Amino acid sequence: MITRDEAFDLLKKYNKEEFHIKHALTVEGTMRYFAEKLGHDPEYWGLVGLLHDIDFEMYPEEHCKKAPELLKEGGLEDDFIRSVCSHGYGLCCDIEPTHEMEKVLFATDELTGLIGACALMRPSKSVQDMEVKSVKKKFKDKKFAAGCSRDVIRQGAEMLGWELDELFQETILAMRTCEQ
Ligand SMILES: [Fe+2]
Repeated sequence: MITRDEAFDLLKKYNKEEFHIKHALTVEGTMRYFAEKLGHDPEYWGLVGLLHDIDFEMYPEEHCKKAPELLKEGGLEDDFIRSVCSHGYGLCCDIEPTHEMEKVLFATDELTGLIGACALMRPSKSVQDMEVKSVKKKFKDKKFAAGCSRDVIRQGAEMLGWELDELFQETILAMRTCEQ
């Protein structure tokens, strides 16, 4: 396994836009939080989160298709690559999330975007004082942050067997640990 520094260098090799770097760091921190909570390896889950969108900035048309090549070059193993690609299940690839880590990535990737957009609407511009009910309200408002797929979030919660409220609550708590 590569180190966190090596992974961050690999991310920066293919991602220059601040928005993409921030998203990678948010998903990294979120994955670390869930790994700790669920009794898994936070280092490993964090790296998957950090690199999950590695190919998106430069190869948006080949999202999850270019990633294996970039990750392999970077020294990542097949299992790791599989997990990264599975977050595009039903959208840009047909690798189904099966491991709990893959399901958490699938469920939280779009949701961190929605929660981040909710945070920007607040006077504090922060998730620190955010409550589930404000996320629920924005979740129902389809025009708000329309790019964050409610279907994917719902499908992710279903895969995990969690209620949406529970997923929202835990993802808010996760994002509090890694606010960018
Ligand atoms: Fe993502």
